[in-house]
Amino acid sequence: MFYTSLTTFITLAAFVSATPTPTSSENFVTAFARAPSCTFPTPPKTSSLTSARTITGTFDGGNIRFDRGKGACGGQKEGGEKETVFLLSEGAVLKNVIIGANQAEGVHCLGSCTLENVWFEDVCEDAVTIKQKSGISTIRGGGAKNASDKVIQHNGGGTVVIKDYCVQNFGKLYRSCGNCSSQQKRSVIISNVIATNGKLIAGVNSNFGDVATITKSSLQLSSVSSMCDTFKATVGSGEPTKLTSNKANSSCKF
Ligand SMILES: *[C@@H]1O[C@H](CO)[C@@H](O)[C@H](O)[C@H]1NC(C)=O
Ligand SMILES: *[C@@H]1O[C@H](CO)[C@@H](O)[C@H](O)[C@H]1NC(C)=O
Ligand SMILES: *[C@@H]1O[C@H](CO)[C@@H](O)[C@H](O)[C@H]1NC(C)=O
Repeated sequence: MFYTSLTTFITLAAFVSATPTPTSSENFVTAFARAPSCTFPTPPKTSSLTSARTITGTFDGGNIRFDRGKGACGGQKEGGEKETVFLLSEGAVLKNVIIGANQAEGVHCLGSCTLENVWFEDVCEDAVTIKQKSGISTIRGGGAKNASDKVIQHNGGGTVVIKDYCVQNFGKLYRSCGNCSSQQKRSVIISNVIATNGKLIAGVNSNFGDVATITKSSLQLSSVSSMCDTFKATVGSGEPTKLTSNKANSSCKF
């Protein structure tokens, strides 16, 4: 008994002294990360919502599958807030939820939000759209499958943190909006991700000063073409131009 507690004490003491003091948000994120998992939970039931559900505060879905009913995914047509499954208000936390294939817009965050263990079984247009004006939104745990284009679309400002995440069969895990009518500097911090069969981890607009910080050593990559691409984005219309692919610089830190 004494020996066990002593061992525990020594182990803890060693852990505490070995844990670096977080000096930046990136260190903070990686120091307290959990292992990502690609084991999608089995839902006890499916709930088909007839309209988007607005979340304020915390909603724990108990791993129920939520969707918007048959035929709700209309391909890659850019949809709006009415087509979401969940609409998160400033400060909202959505956890332990499965988003099924029958939906168009997944989750939109109107302010800073937290998604914890939110699983997208089959992404339609995009999985998560971040519209916060500033601040930090965090997506941790959970994962997304079969996003022909984007998983996390950052249209607002501030920072998005993606960690302990799984992404399989995807176009882009993260993209800072390439042609939004209101453009600004955006940041993304990515760590502890299992990424399989995809084109791009992060796409940023170097002409608006975006910065992607990716802890590459913490990623488990398989058949992923590029860590980070820079683009020259437009304002309001047209298509952005790709500038660099899979090259590290101060816009793409990895
Ligand atoms: C996801 O994509 C894989 C590979 O393309 C495919 O085999 C699978 O059927 C797709 N799953 C869904 C739910 O569409
Ligand atoms: C912005 O880009 C998207 C995807 O590249 C495209 O579908 C959309 O039409 C563009 N929007 C505008 C306003 O040009
Ligand atoms: C990174 O490279 C891109 C493409 O050449 C460039 O537009 C951008 O300014 C560079 N970023 C920085 C911060 O130098």
